[in-house]
Amino acid sequence: MSEAVAGAVAERFAELYGAGPEGVWAAPGRVNLIGEHTDYNDGFVMPFALPHTAVAAVSRREDGLLRLHSADVEGGVSELRVADLAPGTDRGWTAYPAGVVWALREAGHEVTGADIHLASTVPAGAGLSSSAALEVVVALALNDLYGLGLRGWQLARLCQRAENVYVGAPVGIMDQTAAACCEAGHALFLDTRDLSQRQIPFDLAAEGMRLLVVDTQVKHAHSEGEYGKRRAGCEKGAALLGVDALRDVPYDGLEAALERLGDDEEVRRLVRHVVTEDERVERVVSLLESGRTGEIGPVLTEGHASLRDDFRISCPELDLVVDTALAEGALGARMTGGGFGGSAIVLARAADVETLTKAVQEAFARAGLTAPRVFEAVPSAGARRLA
Ligand code: GLA
Repeated sequence: MSEAVAGAVAERFAELYGAGPEGVWAAPGRVNLIGEHTDYNDGFVMPFALPHTAVAAVSRREDGLLRLHSADVEGGVSELRVADLAPGTDRGWTAYPAGVVWALREAGHEVTGADIHLASTVPAGAGLSSSAALEVVVALALNDLYGLGLRGWQLARLCQRAENVYVGAPVGIMDQTAAACCEAGHALFLDTRDLSQRQIPFDLAAEGMRLLVVDTQVKHAHSEGEYGKRRAGCEKGAALLGVDALRDVPYDGLEAALERLGDDEEVRRLVRHVVTEDERVERVVSLLESGRTGEIGPVLTEGHASLRDDFRISCPELDLVVDTALAEGALGARMTGGGFGGSAIVLARAADVETLTKAVQEAFARAGLTAPRVFEAVPSAGARRLA
């Protein structure tokens, strides 16, 4: 399957640039099982990779040109000069691959140009990290071709820098690390403070369960500004509490910390979410590691309530998925990713998948909403070379 994809992408590359690519690479989208809005608080996250990938066919150039093309965007080949790349100059899709080239060069890696053709099956705007997949696939390709010798977590850091500085989105490190470091059959338990990681076996099928992704197809305006506001609020909370990051508030010190924050209700809510969410990640890890997979459901659902009520980043469509799924017997459900639209995940017994899917679709139809896309998420491989 991946050979056929690599072949098709290489063929298109040859049509565009006149000769075949030096190689073809893939990097996946992700869903986050638990640990939301904890990554910019030095906390814990637990994403796994989707089978959906961004694929890049790439060749080096020595003349300083960066040529970019995407199968998923109207328009021809964009031509840039690597020496001219500068943060804030590009508002389109090319900012992601160009930002990676900029970040590599800025870190002192000699990247003298490239021809790149991209094609992605990661749904865009669905909260499934289509942009991190684009960044990481380009970073991995250039790492291999230019022999930079960077490890997965280092590529993730550079991609995050590309997104923070070049694209201008204040995201954390989760999505890029997931794309770079996830392994098939596992969820990635990541400590975003020191980037230490543990691959946690996550084979739901063997236990008669499934994890569904429900893409609400909704993207609310202002979500980017709201993300920045939440991040700033968390930083304010950490400063008021005199800690480096909210990660440093001990779980059993939460009540005392909330008291110290006095009547700043907004900050109290943000702090409560982050601290309880870190604890939920650790709870899920220990349930999975002791073979009690079915018991993670209620923890996921608790996480949703916290994102909805304390962090306030859910929306009616996400709540509708969660409420409908739970009413129909799902083991757990929550929104996943940045929030304000995008996707929810539903943990279900295999036998219930059809009924649940139908119930969610009917609930959307009754509410007059666009039909959601529902698919099963199987923990898949991280970034890799295909050809
Ligand atoms: C987005 C960001 C991540 C993370 C999540 C929320 O996906 O890119 O860094 O903050 O939101 O958990």
